[in-house]
Amino acid sequence: MSVIIRETRAIEGQKPGTSGLRKKTPVFMQPGYLENFVQAIFNAIDGARGKTFVLGGDGRFFNDRAAQVILKMAAANGAARVIVGQGAILSTPAASHLIRLHQTDGGIILSASHNPGGPDEDFGVKFNTPNGGPAPESVTQAIYEESGRLREYAFFDAADVDLSRIGEIRLGEMIVQVVDPVSDYAAMMEKLFDFAKLRTLFANGFRMRFDAMHAVTGPYATEILEHRLGAAPGTVVNGRPLPDFGGGHPDPNPVWARALMDEMFGPDAPDFGAASDGDGDRNMIVGRGIYVSPSDSLAVLAANAHLAPGYRGGIRGVARSMPTSAAVDRVARALGIACHETPTGWKFFGNLLDAGQVTLCGEESFGTGSDHVREKDGLWAVLLWLNIVAERAESVTEILTIHWREHGRNYYSRHDYEALPAAQAEEVMQALRSRLGSLPGTEVQGMVAEAADDFAYHDPVDGSVSAGQGLRVMFAGGSRLVLRLSGTGTEGATLRLYLEHFVAGPEGLAGDVQATLAPVIAVAEDLAGIARITGRKTPDVIT
Ligand code: G1P
Ligand code: ZN
Repeated sequence: MSVIIRETRAIEGQKPGTSGLRKKTPVFMQPGYLENFVQAIFNAIDGARGKTFVLGGDGRFFNDRAAQVILKMAAANGAARVIVGQGAILSTPAASHLIRLHQTDGGIILSASHNPGGPDEDFGVKFNTPNGGPAPESVTQAIYEESGRLREYAFFDAADVDLSRIGEIRLGEMIVQVVDPVSDYAAMMEKLFDFAKLRTLFANGFRMRFDAMHAVTGPYATEILEHRLGAAPGTVVNGRPLPDFGGGHPDPNPVWARALMDEMFGPDAPDFGAASDGDGDRNMIVGRGIYVSPSDSLAVLAANAHLAPGYRGGIRGVARSMPTSAAVDRVARALGIACHETPTGWKFFGNLLDAGQVTLCGEESFGTGSDHVREKDGLWAVLLWLNIVAERAESVTEILTIHWREHGRNYYSRHDYEALPAAQAEEVMQALRSRLGSLPGTEVQGMVAEAADDFAYHDPVDGSVSAGQGLRVMFAGGSRLVLRLSGTGTEGATLRLYLEHFVAGPEGLAGDVQATLAPVIAVAEDLAGIARITGRKTPDVIT
C-alpha cells in the first residue's frame, strides 16, 4: 500500500456559483475525471492534511465506486479521518448534520439530487463547508480554477474499504469511521418535534403515504415514520433505494410523483401525503384532495412553527429565494420579523442562518429548511407539517384555507422549458432584458408594470454582491413574472418562467391556479416571446 501521484489532464470543473459538479455518469467515469475534481476540492481548501471530512451519497449508480476513490484520495492527501455513512449512503441533510455534529472540516456529497440516476443518467459531487452548507462562491471559484489547472492527483493504492459494517477501519494513516446513516439524524428530529404527540396521532388512525421514490429517504422515513412514530407498515412506499431509482425521476412534484398525487386525489385518499427527492433535501406536501405549493408550504410553516418544540420560542426571521412567491413575506409582516429575498440556490441562505438572522427558509423548487442544518431538508418539512397538523387537530385543507383567509393567497406556478438550444434560451432572456428599463409605469395587456430589473443580491452579512440572478417584472396588485435560466440542467438550456398573482380574499381564494394566472402568462409571452422564439407551444413541466 502506498501513495502514488498520477498524472491527469485538466477538466472543465464545476462552474462557479453552481452547487456541485453535475455531469452524465459516463463523464464522471472517464479515467481521472472524478479524481481531478476531488483533488481540486482538496487543493482549493489548502489541502486535506490532518482534516476530518464526512462522505456519503444518495446511492445512485457509481455512488459506491466514487466513494472508494474519494476515500483513497483523502488518505493519500493526508486526511486524518473520514466519517462515512454505511454503504456510502447519506442523505444530503443527514450529511450536513454530521458535518456540524462532529465539527468537521466539511464533507463530500455524492448526488445529482432530483436528476435521474443510472449508467447513462446523471451523477454529481458537491463539497460542503464546515458549517454544513454548500460551498459559497469564493470556494467554488477556487475549485473551478484548480480543476482547470491541476496536472496530477494523489491516490492511495490499496484494496477497497469495507463500508458494509459500522466501525472504524484504517486506510494507511487515515481512519475511516463507518456510521449508521439514519440514527444521528433521527435523534435530531426527536429533539425538534413532539414525537409523543405524533405517536398518538398515528395511534388514533391518522393515515399517511410517504413516497421515497426509490431514493435515499426510504431508510430514513421507514425508521422515523413507521418504527419510531408507529405509522402503519406500508406508509412508506418505494422505500428501497435503487441505483437507478427504479427508472424514475426522483423529483417530488406533481408531475414526477404522479402515483402519490393520484392516490391523494382518489376515493380512498389518506390524510396526508408527502414525497422526497433523490438525496432527501426536497419535499412535496399533499393533503387529501389538495396540493400544497412549496411557496405556500413555507408560509404555513413560518406561521405555525412555534407549535413544534424546536421552534417554541418563535422564529427570528425568514428567507426565500427571489422566484419563490411572496406568501411568506405576508406571514413575516404579520409576525413582525424580517423577510430576506435571496438568489436561487440554498447556499445563499448560509450566511443568514449562520448569523442567526433567519430560522426558516425555502425555495419554490420544493425546498424548505431551518437552522437545524445548512441544507434544505425533506423529511424535516414533512415532520414539521405533521407536528402542526397534530397540534391544530385540523386537516391540510383546513390549515391552508384558514391561512389564505387570514393572509390572502399568492397564486403561483412555474413553467419549465427544457433542453432548449442555448442560443434560443438566451434570445428569450435578451428579449425581456432589453425591455426591462422601459417597463415601469407602462401597461401591458391591461396590467401595469410597477418595477422591473435583473435581480442582484447584496448579502447583508458579508457584503458580497451576486448580480444577474433573474429577470423580474412586478405589476400593480401583487402580480409578478420572473424569467431565469436553470443552473442545474445537464442537457441544453432550461428556461424557467415563474408566475404569481395575489388575491386578498375573501372572494377568489379557491380558484384554478393556471386559469387565475392566465393574464400573467399572456403578458410573459408578450414580453419574452417564449413560444414565438422557441416554437414550444407549452412548457415541458408545470409545477
Ligand atoms: C434548481 C432549483 C433551485 C434549487 C436547485 C438545487 O436550480 O430551481 O431552487 O436550489 O435546483 O436543488 P435551477 O435548475 O433552477 O438553477
Ligand atoms: Zn435534492
